[in-house]
Amino acid sequence: MPIALVTGASMGIGAAFARALAARKYDLVLVARSQDKLDALCHELMTDHGVTVKVWVADLTVATAAQDVFNAVNSWDWQVDLLVNNAGFGDYAPFVSCDRAKQVSMIQLNVLALTELTHLFLPSMIDRKSGSIINVASIAGLQSLPYLSVYAATKAFVVSFSESLWAEVKSSGVKVQALCPGSTESNFAVVAGMDTMMEGSTKEAPKIATAESVVQESLDTLERNEPIVVTGIGNKFVSAIGRFVPRKTLVGWVEQVFRPKQ
Ligand SMILES: NC(=O)c1ccc[n+]([C@@H]2O[C@H](COP(=O)([O-])OP(=O)(O)OC[C@H]3O[C@@H](n4cnc5c(N)ncnc54)[C@H](OP(=O)(O)O)[C@@H]3O)[C@@H](O)[C@H]2O)c1
Repeated sequence: MPIALVTGASMGIGAAFARALAARKYDLVLVARSQDKLDALCHELMTDHGVTVKVWVADLTVATAAQDVFNAVNSWDWQVDLLVNNAGFGDYAPFVSCDRAKQVSMIQLNVLALTELTHLFLPSMIDRKSGSIINVASIAGLQSLPYLSVYAATKAFVVSFSESLWAEVKSSGVKVQALCPGSTESNFAVVAGMDTMMEGSTKEAPKIATAESVVQESLDTLERNEPIVVTGIGNKFVSAIGRFVPRKTLVGWVEQVFRPKQ
């Protein structure tokens, strides 16, 4: 059976990836900090789908965490066919007043852990001339976002890095996808502090996708080896606007939409 490693698998989009991949008969490595949630999901997937699932509890902001996961997978004699770098979080606040330690952790998780895990697992995929890496970015990676400035910059890194890597390895048989969802049902808004701060700041709530629909579009598109996958018609439309409107104008509009209400 093919093997997939999913970071941030304890809930949200990562858990949806784990469920969808187990249904496609992948054995799985589930990585996150919440052991109870990972254990419950592990039990569910083994019972429902008859696949083998291993849990690796780790805080991926810790400098040695990516290497530790890689060493563990090697010690089991497992070879990862699909790496889903999904763990990530945002922080909604004016940059000047945001918590500096939280911004640094965000960069460590959204950028450094993703880059390290990719660098660790890619060589054996290239040797085997097969394998896939899905790096979960965001439509925030395609458009600067005032009040989520560091988050959007981390996702711009993920888009740029993944697209470059796609071009580097495309003739080797390895697929790379930067997955760009828009607003998706998960715990993201709570962790980012957007649930309360955004109250009343927009007249119309954006359409929220389910994690399952995001994952399905990602996996359905993987065979085509598209470097950037923007999920949902509305997000495709929104992300295309940037090609026609001057950046300065666009970021001004976005600033008004995202400006926190006091
Ligand atoms: N939801 C959206 O609207 C949306 C839109 C675009 C992109 N995204 C991206 O989608 C990805 C998944 O987010 P989500 O929406 O599913 O949010 P979520 O429900 O908050 O899930 C985040 C996952 O990341 C894990 N995680 C957080 N910090 C971690 C750490 N230090 N070490 C290891 N794992 C950690 C969490 O598990 P533990 O807490 O158990 O560690 C959880 O499994 C993120 O990269 C996010 O930026 C989300």
